[in-house]
Amino acid sequence: MVQIKIFDTTLRDGEQSPGVNLNQLEKLEIAKQLERFGVDVMEAGFPASSQGDFEAVRKIAQTIKHVSVTALARAKKSDIDVAWDALKDAVDPRLHVFIATSPIHMEYKLKKTPEEVIQIAVDMVTYGKQKGFNKIEWSAEDASRTDLKFLAKIVEKVIDAGATVINLPDTVGYTTPKEYGEMFRYMKENVPNINKVDLSAHCHDDLGMALANSIAAIQNGATQIEGTINGIGERAGNAALEELAVALTIRNDFYPYTTNLVLKEIKRTSDLVSKFTGMVVPGNKAVVGRNAFAHESGIHQDGVLKNASTYEIITPELVGIQSNNLVLGKHSGRHAFKDKIEQLGYQLSEEKLAEAFKAFKSLTDRKKEVTDDDLFAILIDIQTDV
Ligand code: KIV
Ligand code: ZN
Repeated sequence: MVQIKIFDTTLRDGEQSPGVNLNQLEKLEIAKQLERFGVDVMEAGFPASSQGDFEAVRKIAQTIKHVSVTALARAKKSDIDVAWDALKDAVDPRLHVFIATSPIHMEYKLKKTPEEVIQIAVDMVTYGKQKGFNKIEWSAEDASRTDLKFLAKIVEKVIDAGATVINLPDTVGYTTPKEYGEMFRYMKENVPNINKVDLSAHCHDDLGMALANSIAAIQNGATQIEGTINGIGERAGNAALEELAVALTIRNDFYPYTTNLVLKEIKRTSDLVSKFTGMVVPGNKAVVGRNAFAHESGIHQDGVLKNASTYEIITPELVGIQSNNLVLGKHSGRHAFKDKIEQLGYQLSEEKLAEAFKAFKSLTDRKKEVTDDDLFAILIDIQTDV
């Protein structure tokens, strides 16, 4: 099994979700839960962005003892100075410094030539080391739209300057698994000093491919994956770490990779992030959505009652959810209905059961989901004894 490091950026890229603004206490609570979840690195924020974020990062750096704490810095000495002040008390501080490398970003945003960008990147990694950082992650922003030869050249130089992790983000969620995997393979094959560092993937979900791209990166040499809880983040968000963790675990017949994540902490972590960010988890969201372990159709409910693995590839307990849920609706069948009635404490004769089932079916034409109270009303109506 190859060990994959997990870099959580819920408190930085995740907080960049439009409308999200976490206060210091909320960030600290999430940080403590991320530590329980078992991430290897947590990006606590972007200290140069505001005094509040600086203080939140500093508090997290002082509190968290078992996870490496990092913070983002642009390729500016002043950002690196602020990041050092925020992180210097951490048990295992790491600088995360980035600069864009794609032609479109270099020309229109940075207004710099490729050679100038290389010089700045090298200077900033060197400066980070001088400042006191032993671990420096360097990110090539918009790597997936960068010329591969140029990317290999700048990566080699920043490794020589002292970078310990190289992150190649799909900043705009543009790439596809094959292309993204090939970029990692290219670096492995064309950067002579690449094996000195961890290679990291950071995927955005604009085309819904963040998780698939992250897995492709792992298959081509990435040893660290970046993502967020519930997949929150800029625009369409980042790769969802709970999805990655579960995918690698339950498909370890196919993916020989392992992480330090504690899967049973998934639900609690997801709920906490959702509560503090105000970002509601969609019902159909993989792994943590309300419907992820709910079954509505009679055929599925019948299968699950006979053996849950007929329609469940993940057990709810694995991710910290108490049980699955058979939702009674218009597609539900007699088997699930009887099971539910028995759970509510009723034993019906065949005749009464048929009567109750008929009343239930007729109700489903008027109501999307039938609740326990609806069932009690039906049972009272047919005058059953408990
Ligand atoms: O998406 C991105 O490129 C980023 C970098 C700052 C790593 O978030
Ligand atoms: Zn990002």
